[in-house]
Amino acid sequence: MTEPVGGYFSLELPLVEEYHKDALRLNTGRNCLEYILLSRGYKKVYLPYYICSVVLEPFEKLGVQYVFYHVDERLELKDSLSVKAGEALLYVNYFGLKQRYVEHLAEQYGTSLIIDNTQAFYAKPVKRIDTFYSCRKFFGVPDGAYLYTEELLGGELKQDESYDRMSHLLRRIDLGAESGYDDFRKNDDRLSGQPVRRMSRLTHRLMRGIDYEGIANRRRANYRLLESELGESNKIVLDLEEDAVPMVYPYFTSVKGLRERLIADKVFVACYWPDVLDWVNEVSLEYCLASRMLPLPVDQRYGEEVMNGMLKELNDLKCKG
Ligand SMILES: Cc1ncc(COP(=O)(O)O)c(C=O)c1O
Repeated sequence: MTEPVGGYFSLELPLVEEYHKDALRLNTGRNCLEYILLSRGYKKVYLPYYICSVVLEPFEKLGVQYVFYHVDERLELKDSLSVKAGEALLYVNYFGLKQRYVEHLAEQYGTSLIIDNTQAFYAKPVKRIDTFYSCRKFFGVPDGAYLYTEELLGGELKQDESYDRMSHLLRRIDLGAESGYDDFRKNDDRLSGQPVRRMSRLTHRLMRGIDYEGIANRRRANYRLLESELGESNKIVLDLEEDAVPMVYPYFTSVKGLRERLIADKVFVACYWPDVLDWVNEVSLEYCLASRMLPLPVDQRYGEEVMNGMLKELNDLKCKG
């Protein structure tokens, strides 16, 4: 016997087909980027100002230069860039809503393009384009990432272990959202400074227990419901393309202070991304996005009732001004 037989059980989980079964399995999105920087040997990468600061980690670690670029109100490149040999352009498939534009960029920039699909778990990779995903932005898992690339690093990577970063996921079920929040912050912070590793066996197993289709349908339905009520007052208009599965509904309103008031009413709305406020000046679009855009949850935990409750809350707050 190579594997032990009998004895005690492990956690009971469903077993279905993994969504990104042909990708490399790594531990985090930022480490997928580190892998790409190492395997391609890029000297310089163009990054959007509108991005999460953890993306800078691999650049700082490897000493690779990065130069920021601006996006326009469709969240597309404001100006076209001239990307030379040894350089790359990284684009974020924002909220999982920019796949047609990703395809357009792939035609324009070819393999010098890197697609950050951490907000677009369901978006299929474009052939030959380095593309990465982060599992925990869409599902209740502690870590994990997928990478599509044709440029492989030699050598065996060590396998990550995640059992020790599960407490927030377990606490939220057992004791509620507030009880797990500190652990969530700690466990998330512990993903910084990790070496590139293979996805843990635990995360891999969890990723094979997910109802991918059901979740996609739920997210799309929730998005549509919010869009039908908020679309007219939304200052950014991003279409839900036929094959898109959104991460959130991005609601951009000129009413100030809504995020804080929603959070006070226990609607937890994140800020994408606080560090952007230090990188750009106050009149830039990215500053407005980081300060005013509300990424409203549309995920699989919720249905019509919660969406309607959130809409009512939002309307009440807007009326109070
Ligand atoms: C746009 C974007 N890219 C990359 C990452 C990095 O992913 P990970 O946290 O899995 O390293 C994040 C978030 O953390 C992100 O928001």
